[in-house]
Amino acid sequence: MATWPPHATRGGLRRRVYRHSTLFDCTLFDRILLETLCHDAHRASSRGVECIEVEGGASLRGTVHLSGSKNASLPMLCAALLAEGTHVFQRVPRLRDIASTLKLLRHLGCRSEVNAGAQGDVINLTVGDTLGDEAPYELVCEMRASVLVLGPLLTRLGRAKVSLPGGCAIGTRPIDQHLKGLEALGARVELHHGYVECVAPGGRLRGGDVHFDMVTVTGTENLLAAAALAQGRTRLFNAAREPEVVALATMLKAMGARITGEGTSEITIEGVDTLKPAVYEVPPDRIEAGTYMVAAALTGGDLTLENVPLAQLDALTTVLREAGAEVEALGDTRCRVSRSGPLRPVSLTTAPYPAFATDMQAQWMVLMTQAEGESTISERIFENRFMHVPELARLGAQLSVEGDTATVSGPTPLEGAVVTATDLRASACLVLAGLVAGGVTRIRRVYHLDRGYDDLVGKLNGVGARLKRVRE
Ligand code: EPU
Repeated sequence: MATWPPHATRGGLRRRVYRHSTLFDCTLFDRILLETLCHDAHRASSRGVECIEVEGGASLRGTVHLSGSKNASLPMLCAALLAEGTHVFQRVPRLRDIASTLKLLRHLGCRSEVNAGAQGDVINLTVGDTLGDEAPYELVCEMRASVLVLGPLLTRLGRAKVSLPGGCAIGTRPIDQHLKGLEALGARVELHHGYVECVAPGGRLRGGDVHFDMVTVTGTENLLAAAALAQGRTRLFNAAREPEVVALATMLKAMGARITGEGTSEITIEGVDTLKPAVYEVPPDRIEAGTYMVAAALTGGDLTLENVPLAQLDALTTVLREAGAEVEALGDTRCRVSRSGPLRPVSLTTAPYPAFATDMQAQWMVLMTQAEGESTISERIFENRFMHVPELARLGAQLSVEGDTATVSGPTPLEGAVVTATDLRASACLVLAGLVAGGVTRIRRVYHLDRGYDDLVGKLNGVGARLKRVRE
């Protein structure tokens, strides 16, 4: 009997070997994929369907300037709700997730002005003295990260009502840790009709100790923002150490918050009475950078990458070198990645920062399809993040999945085909696969890429790739 979530049956799932012949053998895993695609198809049809065609075979050479971080921008924009006045965000990447966040913030009563800057957009976000307290389903369902308004709204207004984000292609993704944390700060939390409704008794949260049961990035960010205006001291234990959490803490400190320990697993926040707006710079996107680093190694290319947070990419740099790529630091935010020899297989496991990021797992899998031998990838963050496996198999990759581990047998020549993207990083991996596949790879549901990769087509074509957007 099929159960949800899929990890509940993980022990019982048989080994899935992905080759063309097994793709029509419908099991639970395949059904989840089909359901996701149907949901996506519905969303896509309401937007007009665009795809990307990649003509494979080019080796990437030249320089790419990378963008600001998506996953830093989103909590930062939401944290502006904490202070009335005009906040200025610089180097904001041009992404659909940013547009979705601004839409939600405007719904809550903010005004936004977006201007093109030399490196990314400059966003002036004006937060009024009165704000709406409800984030409705229609807006939250467009982007899970919308739950990041919960902490700021609750602590600023004393109440908040936010639609539960629900699951997504990569897993069920509950927010129980966010809610448990807010309760530790005194919030009364109730769930009604698909919404989480929170109230701070007396209108203000009070500091408290929060022990996260697992490392959660947006959970830590929600609590950081909530604690900034709470009365007294909050301590977050087992906090996420991701650079995006540090970026948020840096912004909050610029607004007047008192925070220590960000970047470690114990963060202390001394609540203040008010915060003020300021000017912030979005840091570089480590996952975008990592994706281009893998692209250089994959295509046997030679890329100079600018605006790269190299210090945050140790885990990736280490395995890239083990696999046979050369990674040369050219200062703190520039590097050169190239490869001339064969690729070696390297096995890895995803884990919270500073370990290998789950957001780079799908891209790594493509690289390993070209390595000479067998490698494994164990996914330990999300229970369902192998949706790209059947799609890579359509291109000819030899892959099998057992529980949370995928085995990749390389090297396999890939052949262009029509493939369907299921989520943001899966989409990126399909573009990478297209770069080395013979002929043309057509990637459908390209709006996933627009969520998180600023001008992917322009940047890749600028270094010799052959991509174009076409209507289906
Ligand atoms: N989890 C719970 N309960 C919670 C919170 C998390 O069970 O209350 C579980 C999740 O289901 C997951 C694990 O804990 O199994 C870690 O989830 P986390 O909360 O850290 O993920 P997130 O904050 O929702 C962010 C990024 C993701 C990235 C993950 C892991 C943003 C907006 N999103 O998600 O980015 O994969 O951290 O690093 O910051 C992406 O950019 O493509 C993306 C998915």
